[in-house]
Amino acid sequence: MIDNGNARKVVGLSPTRNQSFFGRDIVSVRQFSRDDLTYITQIADEMRALVRRVGATDLLKGHILANLFYEPSTRTSSSFIAAMQRLGGSVIPIHGVQYSSVSKGESLPDTIRTLECYADVIVLRHPEVGASEVAARYATKPIISAGDGVGEHPTQALLDLYTIYSELGALDGLHVAMVGDLKNGRTVHSLARLLRNYDIRMSFVAPEILRLPEALKQEVADAGRAVAETERVEDVIADADVIYVTRVQKERFEDLRQYEAVKGYYEITPELMARAQKKMALMHPLPRVGEIHYDVDDDPRAAYFRQVENGLYVRMALLAAVLGKA
Ligand code: NCD
Repeated sequence: MIDNGNARKVVGLSPTRNQSFFGRDIVSVRQFSRDDLTYITQIADEMRALVRRVGATDLLKGHILANLFYEPSTRTSSSFIAAMQRLGGSVIPIHGVQYSSVSKGESLPDTIRTLECYADVIVLRHPEVGASEVAARYATKPIISAGDGVGEHPTQALLDLYTIYSELGALDGLHVAMVGDLKNGRTVHSLARLLRNYDIRMSFVAPEILRLPEALKQEVADAGRAVAETERVEDVIADADVIYVTRVQKERFEDLRQYEAVKGYYEITPELMARAQKKMALMHPLPRVGEIHYDVDDDPRAAYFRQVENGLYVRMALLAAVLGKA
């Protein structure tokens, strides 16, 4: 099936399932409305209660997920596997594409068309921007993007949103500061876009060469959201409700000398946290490579491992919704 945009895929016929998710691809946060986000948040809450109470269910028994990763991953790949298994489904894990026919030169469309013969849904991480849209055009089963190069990481943004809500109990009215590699960080690209749905003030904190792409900044401003830019965390630390820190994306640099020049630009320390609000959330998509000092981990505002856990609940919610079982 070519050029189907985000058309409904082959997962069943019931018209009563959630129209935004059932049988749909998840390739960009642009596709979500505020109602969609409320819906996923509610299902994620149910998944959290379910996991804490009984650990697992057989909601997706008999369903199979193909987990196709062309780039390294710890959290995203493991959480999709755990999510599928806790819902009673099973997984085809392809995490070293060097051991698959990709190393023989097989194209992405052929790999996708093969995997959908076995699986009901495909999770894809790929180094090229737009790869998940390409996969979605060829697939008759739902494609869920797990990150496409420097493009987007929609499921991470959903779990980030869920974490902000869980930590602070609100979204409207907040000041969210994003810190680090805003140029190459796909989690930031998706999160900034997603937060346009709320009355949120955004500050972008980055050195000159790692600034948020101008077009994306414009998208946020066009949505009527207040936007500020600075190079210094000190400018936002006292006022922000959320500090979202990111790693400098070494693998995206052509000139490693440039990476070396900016890699240690930010470090959140206990001293800096002493200047932050009493109620706020310090977040990071992880992995961290020096941006948050380990001494901050015991601070109750350090939310990054709760953020990891939330990834499980949000991905359970997404799999159930896409497969029409939420
Ligand atoms: C992020 C990614 O892969 O974009 N990791 C993740 O999925 N949690 C962030 C990063 O690699 O820096």
